[in-house]
Amino acid sequence: MKVADSPQARSSTRLAQPPATRTNSASRAVSTIFGFCAAAALGAALAALYGHSSGSAPDERWQLAARYTARFSFSIFLPVFVASAWNRLAPGRVSRFLVRRRRALGLAFATAHTVHLVALVTYNVVAGTRPDVATLVGGGGAYLILFAMAATSNDASVRRLGRNWLRLHKLGVYWLWFVFALSYAGRTFGGNPGFAPLFAAALAALALRVAAARKHRPRPGRSTP
Ligand code: HEM
Repeated sequence: MKVADSPQARSSTRLAQPPATRTNSASRAVSTIFGFCAAAALGAALAALYGHSSGSAPDERWQLAARYTARFSFSIFLPVFVASAWNRLAPGRVSRFLVRRRRALGLAFATAHTVHLVALVTYNVVAGTRPDVATLVGGGGAYLILFAMAATSNDASVRRLGRNWLRLHKLGVYWLWFVFALSYAGRTFGGNPGFAPLFAAALAALALRVAAARKHRPRPGRSTP
């Protein structure tokens, strides 16, 4: 991550502003976050409703609600995952928009994915089933880290946690990516080729981040004195 692009740099830039400007930009940021989260909650609720109305038996209704809420939150996860890499490789209006609103987008994803949690818990209760241990560890761990990321998505936590903030958010975002990629890989190679575009989207997003990291890696012998 470039220094100017890092959460620490953005947080200290805000502190350097005069108090009145700081209050204005803080309340703008809060209303952006609120707007994004409200839109995500509405979208996820509609996805759940669509899934629920597509099934016939109660357990199938909730299974489909879980399916469509996960799909909806994946559509928010992707821009969060690639924003910074995209902006480094090919900066433009859209990539700058995403980078500037990355915190609001991340919290919107957390909101939408919480609706997936509600749907999947309801599915398990209605169907009388219990997820296997691997799902509980992989998926449950992903939720724990997602909530930790959401709770620390503020300037005070960025300053307090320092480098650990970056470690937590990096681990979390790759963990979430892994669960999405694994879910779609399993479905694609398990006889459901219709999921291939979603798996390909997850792989392409990872490739973008790898390309951006390689481009900005300092090369040995190229440093200026
Ligand atoms: C303990 C935690 C979790 C459980 C028990 C769980 C359960 C479920 C269930 C019941 C479905 C519907 C299955 C179907 O379509 O037949 C589903 C779909 C899915 N879940 Fe979760 N989930 C968990 C956590 C997560 C997490 C953390 C992620 C992503 C980071 C995720 C991503 C997905 C994806 C990608 C789908 C497939 C959606 C589609 O069909 O497009 N899940 N999950």
